[in-house]
Amino acid sequence: MQMKFPMRWLFFFSLFTWMWAQDGKALFQANCASCHAVNRRVVGPALKGAHERWGNDEAEMVKFIQNSQAYINGNFKNTAYAKKLYEEYNKAVMTAFTGLSEAEIRAILGYIKAETEALAAAAKPAGEASTSAGAVSGGGADISPILWVLVLALGAIAVALLVATLALARLLRPEVDLARPSAWDKLRKALASRTFIGLAALLGFLWLSSATVKKARKVGLHQGYQPVQPVAFSHKTHAGEYKIACQYCHIGVEKGKSATIPSTNICMNCHTYIQEGSRYGTKEIAKILASYESGKPIEWVRVHNLPDLVYFNHAQHVRVGGIACQTCHGPVEEMEEVYQYSDLSMGWCINCHRQTKVDLTANPYYARLHEQLKEKEVTVEQLGGLECSKCHY
Ligand code: HEC
Ligand code: HEC
Ligand code: HEC
Ligand code: HEC
Ligand code: HEC
Ligand code: HEC
Repeated sequence: MQMKFPMRWLFFFSLFTWMWAQDGKALFQANCASCHAVNRRVVGPALKGAHERWGNDEAEMVKFIQNSQAYINGNFKNTAYAKKLYEEYNKAVMTAFTGLSEAEIRAILGYIKAETEALAAAAKPAGEASTSAGAVSGGGADISPILWVLVLALGAIAVALLVATLALARLLRPEVDLARPSAWDKLRKALASRTFIGLAALLGFLWLSSATVKKARKVGLHQGYQPVQPVAFSHKTHAGEYKIACQYCHIGVEKGKSATIPSTNICMNCHTYIQEGSRYGTKEIAKILASYESGKPIEWVRVHNLPDLVYFNHAQHVRVGGIACQTCHGPVEEMEEVYQYSDLSMGWCINCHRQTKVDLTANPYYARLHEQLKEKEVTVEQLGGLECSKCHY
């Protein structure tokens, strides 16, 4: 009787931690893996030991992850550290994750912490020289198999110990009544009991419904969308390697609603002279020349597409708001082919408006407001940025 309860709670506890870790892992892979790995540097730093570097203050980490630029330019507990890191990473801007809730980010952090601990545990018996936070182990091996082996081994040991203890207890009491149910019978009975099955069914149901709601909320959103384009145009070559300014091609971006896709004329400024490329020879560039000669525009496939009921204006955000393209579009200068980086959901717009402080000093548009509101911090929300009609026709 006395072992039934601990066993049950142990079972639920491990089920919970497992589900929690799964969630964090999936979120990490969907949002962070393009720039981070736990055990090696990618675009951003290796995340193992990040908790230590942040003084184990998850609340601060959440703030940083939700909007790293606001954190770096703000006045938070670890702003000095974040600023230094930002300089160290050549001012690579980490995406703002205003669309992720605090609970979701904490799940990701839980996953990072668990992976850090698993790494440290795996490194010790192997006799590796160092397990300190800054150490980078070679390669980018996925450590989850190691974790599983560890869990299985520990489980096996626990079961073996349990069986041995029970057998010993029996041996030491030879007068035991053989008709009494054995420990194994008790365990089986406990697992088959109504309370247990009921609780397991309830947990399963809760998990399924939360998964369904999460999926349903993503209907109509196309994060990650990356269609094949008619010409093998690379942002990595043009905006990255040759450092051509975004505005050189997307000429509308500071003037009006649409950023605009460049016409063939703009390509011809250079490709009149560059008619052979290092990768495709004349094949791809010939398509530009053909378009120019025939006057038929290249039919680029649209990547980003808000529904018709939404009004979004680039100039308002880029010129007036001073927001970098990468905050919304990600590291385009590293993309061979552009893909949709943010989910473009309403929650994404709203969260940023809730949190972004409007810079009133650098902007003549707000000169008058500035006079009135001196020394006060103003969010987009306070300027009316959450009113339905601002974004909806
Ligand atoms: C576009 C690339 C990019 C993405 C995506 C990204 N990060 Fe980062 N991250 C960076 C860079 C670059 C830094 C270094 C600081 C800086 O430049 O602002 C950083 C720094 C960090 C740090 C501080 C690390 C330290 O050593 O103190 C944490 C924590 C972090 N990121 C977590 C996350 C999480 C969690 C996600 C996913 C929700 C994520 N990042 C997604 C690029 C990215
Ligand atoms: C040499 C010209 C050129 C430069 C420079 C350039 N782009 Fe582009 N961009 C294009 C072309 C052409 C397309 C359409 C084809 C495609 O989607 O790859 C495009 C597409 C895009 C799209 C997707 C548009 C859609 O269909 O939704 C985004 C976002 C984008 N560019 C952002 C940027 C950013 C940010 C920069 C600067 C870092 C930049 N571009 C620099 C030519 C350019
Ligand atoms: C400011 C100059 C400039 C502009 C404008 C420009 N390009 Fe380029 N493009 C280059 C350079 C430089 C290369 C690299 C050539 C090489 O591979 O050696 C290149 C390479 C390419 C290649 C790859 C060729 C290959 O075989 O590797 C394609 C395709 C291409 N450009 C398409 C475009 C298109 C489409 C536009 C218009 C939207 C455009 N470019 C506008 C300078 C430009
Ligand atoms: C505040 C977020 C945000 C910023 C900052 C931003 N964009 Fe966009 N961009 C969007 C959204 C949202 C769309 C989809 C618009 C639509 O479908 O009407 C988009 C669409 C585009 C497109 C497709 C054509 C169009 O205009 O619809 C291009 C190209 C583009 N952006 C380039 C850029 C460049 C270049 C910059 C920086 C100079 C930039 N964007 C800054 C959010 C942003
Ligand atoms: C990265 C942060 C960010 C995101 C994401 C963002 N915005 Fe904004 N938005 C701003 C800022 C900052 C301003 C204020 C600019 C200014 O006027 O100084 C603004 C202003 C606006 C305004 C004008 C509000 C007013 O009162 O004049 C509209 C409309 C708007 N945004 C629509 C959108 C829509 C629609 C989306 C999503 C598709 C979106 N925004 C996503 C930062 C953001
Ligand atoms: C900052 C910009 C912004 C504001 C403010 C805003 N919305 Fe939205 N809204 C959006 C965007 C972007 C979408 C489309 C996202 C998507 O496809 O899920 C959307 C979608 C919707 C939809 C769903 C349409 C559909 O097809 O599913 C409804 C309903 C809606 N908004 C109502 C409202 C109401 C009511 C308010 C005022 C309380 C409001 N919105 C304020 C940006 C905004």
